[in-house]
Amino acid sequence: MAEEKSFHMTPEEFRRYGHAAVDWIADYHSRIESFPVLSQVKPEEIRASLPKNPPAQGEPFEAVLKDVEQLILPGVTHWQSPNFFAYFPCNASGPGILGDLLSSGLGVQGMLWSTSPACTELETHVMDWLVGMLGLPDKFLSSSSGGGVIQDTASSAALCALLAGRERSTHCVSNKKGANGRLVAYVSTQTHSSLEKAAMISGIGTDNLRQIEVDEKFAMRPESLARRIEADKQAGLTPCFVCATVGTTSSNAMDPIAEIGKICRERNLWLHVDAAMSGTAMLCPEFRHLQGGVELADSYNFNPHKWMFTNFDCNCFWVADRKALIQTLSILPEYLKNQATESGAVIDYRDWHIQLGRRFRSLKLWFVIRHYGVDGLQHHIREHVRLAQEFAEWVRNDNRFELVAPVPLNLVCFRHKGTDPANQTDSNQTIMDRLNRSGDLFLTHTKLNSKLTLRLCVGQTNTKRRHVERAWRRIQEEANKVAAD
Ligand SMILES: Cc1ncc(COP(=O)(O)O)c(C=O)c1O
Repeated sequence: MAEEKSFHMTPEEFRRYGHAAVDWIADYHSRIESFPVLSQVKPEEIRASLPKNPPAQGEPFEAVLKDVEQLILPGVTHWQSPNFFAYFPCNASGPGILGDLLSSGLGVQGMLWSTSPACTELETHVMDWLVGMLGLPDKFLSSSSGGGVIQDTASSAALCALLAGRERSTHCVSNKKGANGRLVAYVSTQTHSSLEKAAMISGIGTDNLRQIEVDEKFAMRPESLARRIEADKQAGLTPCFVCATVGTTSSNAMDPIAEIGKICRERNLWLHVDAAMSGTAMLCPEFRHLQGGVELADSYNFNPHKWMFTNFDCNCFWVADRKALIQTLSILPEYLKNQATESGAVIDYRDWHIQLGRRFRSLKLWFVIRHYGVDGLQHHIREHVRLAQEFAEWVRNDNRFELVAPVPLNLVCFRHKGTDPANQTDSNQTIMDRLNRSGDLFLTHTKLNSKLTLRLCVGQTNTKRRHVERAWRRIQEEANKVAAD
């Protein structure tokens, strides 16, 4: 009988090409410092280099890998470069990448416990480990009233938290009737924009999202929060949700969770704590004072995909009362019904987030935690914080520059005090543009007190003292050039 025609990659081919792909990744990481950190291509340049039409016949794997090297790499901004200091880290590691590869290899879709019990149970287990590792309250453990789930991003976690807060305050009426236009949520002026998006999606509406003022450290003012809640109540509105941040995106400000939590408790508002990047620092007990009062939170999230060596995407989200979350998001169509679900003895994570399908993300987290151990993770986080503090000290000691915000952890917000005489513009813009064009490092900016501010965030997996030293040297060089222009 003739063999059935097949275009699939055979297991032997997969083995061979798989080795080649892993070799390529290992080589990429070892030569990563030779690339300009910020991709220097122009808009549409990458597309122009790609064939107009898809291939009618399959191509050899070698040709595809060669095109990654020649066509794709020029358009890559090297987030994994040790000279990447922009935005926030999105660091990866060998064990994280391999965990993700294994997840793809297994190809599991873990929407229900029964669609792959290990996918659910490893996730629950790792999330319970992390409660202890980050010093979070026991109420977030799966053995208590709460529990944790892996989401794609902090944005999704925030949306789920807001929805759960909405449902709790309206006794699950909003899910049926829609939001009534009278619910109010509270953030600070520095809260991440994902909360604004969550207000849009949840039907609360941005008009009903209050941006509470911040103090001189850019942290939410609890007394302003309390005043605003009372005013809204007086106006007949229904305050339902507050988001406090451990480490704001712009300046790494720390909202006072204990005071905010007390206000939420007294008025029965859902308190969500967003620790997207800085949550990772809580691996080290000496930094946990920054989230003092976290035991008052109804939900908490952080992104191992930012600073905990776990490649994108991986967000950890906990709730103190899992029933509130499940009640908010649960729908059970006939075709998903099964005995395990009906027994009530298992977790079905499909009820814990927006989407139905889910990848086996806990594998990469498990690989990372087992590879580094708690000691290894603490070591690297402490080192990043130490390097950022050292950089801040260099800035403090150079009177041409100033620090613009406190430096609690790994983010330094600073500015050059001068103007660019050539363009009559803020010298910081010129310095940053020139540095980023040089490809030597990548920095981004924010505005604090209306002033353009440079941000240097240390968190890349392989960033060492020599990279931070060089960054400072290059910043000083560009500052000298601006002054001389
Ligand atoms: C404090 C904070 N919250 C939320 C986010 C959004 O993260 P994600 O991309 O996981 O939605 C970020 C960064 O992007 C952040 O810094």
